[in-house]
Amino acid sequence: MEANMPKRKEAAKSLRIKVISMGNAEVGKSCIIKRYCEKRFVSKYLATIGIDYGVTKVQVRDREIKVNIFDMAGHPFFYEVRNEFYKDTQGVILVYDVGQKDSFDALDAWLAEMKQDLGPHGNMENIVFVVCANKIDCTKHRCVDESEGRLWAESKGFLYFETSAQTGEGINEMFQTFYVSIVDLCENGGKRPITNSSASFTKEQADTIRRIRNSKDSWDMLAVKPGASRDEVNKAYRKLAVLLHPDKCVAPGSEDAFKAVVNARTALLKNIK
Ligand code: GTP
Ligand code: MG
Repeated sequence: MEANMPKRKEAAKSLRIKVISMGNAEVGKSCIIKRYCEKRFVSKYLATIGIDYGVTKVQVRDREIKVNIFDMAGHPFFYEVRNEFYKDTQGVILVYDVGQKDSFDALDAWLAEMKQDLGPHGNMENIVFVVCANKIDCTKHRCVDESEGRLWAESKGFLYFETSAQTGEGINEMFQTFYVSIVDLCENGGKRPITNSSASFTKEQADTIRRIRNSKDSWDMLAVKPGASRDEVNKAYRKLAVLLHPDKCVAPGSEDAFKAVVNARTALLKNIK
């Protein structure tokens, strides 16, 4: 009996987890995993066919974690293969290419695919998601900036990292934080711990920043009709200023949105008698 004790204690501290990668084809999912596990980068594109599977061991605090990684193919053609693999997942690496806006816009569809395959009883709340804004080494082609990606991720309570599988930037930090969060989740009875970032801004603030980014002109930005009066412009401005003032709002992109609103108001007032 005594002789069994240390073994049982060890077993209690070890943990087996399943993580999957998700995101459009060619965004760099396999390269991110390769960079972390094999410390190398392959520049030739070798599309994943269906699923690649690997096992790795990591240490988080006093626990040994056995990680089963399922690296999914991003091509729509492989949907039938992918849909078998969503269940019983503790962590998702959700990847987009910062030079491909489509791959960023597709993130919602990836979540929807997973949700659909988990079925009505599947719970996305007990899964840790990390968003990788990948290929940050390709600075010339970048079209999704950090605040846009971070806002999307953090407003959903997801982790966010800027990564380059090519240079290795952000990769180790991303995996470390990801695994620690999964262990925290397992130790927290399967509930995602509240992160500082997810609790620090409201959905209204996030939605407003996104709306301002996508607005077509100054009227649109202040959400007033073209030809609105000075009073209406000022009223709309004050409302947005209260919502987005840098002293009050820490959402990613809030500072730029606030500046844009100030400029829009100035531009409109110049032309209203
Ligand atoms: P699928 O398996 O088809 O879903 O694609 P994937 O997301 O696994 O992409 P993969 O990792 O195979 O990478 C696609 C291409 O992007 C390859 O040519 C890689 O060399 C390149 N690539 C991946 N990550 C980076 C990166 O961080 N920087 C640069 N410059 N290229 C990258
Ligand atoms: Mg791949």
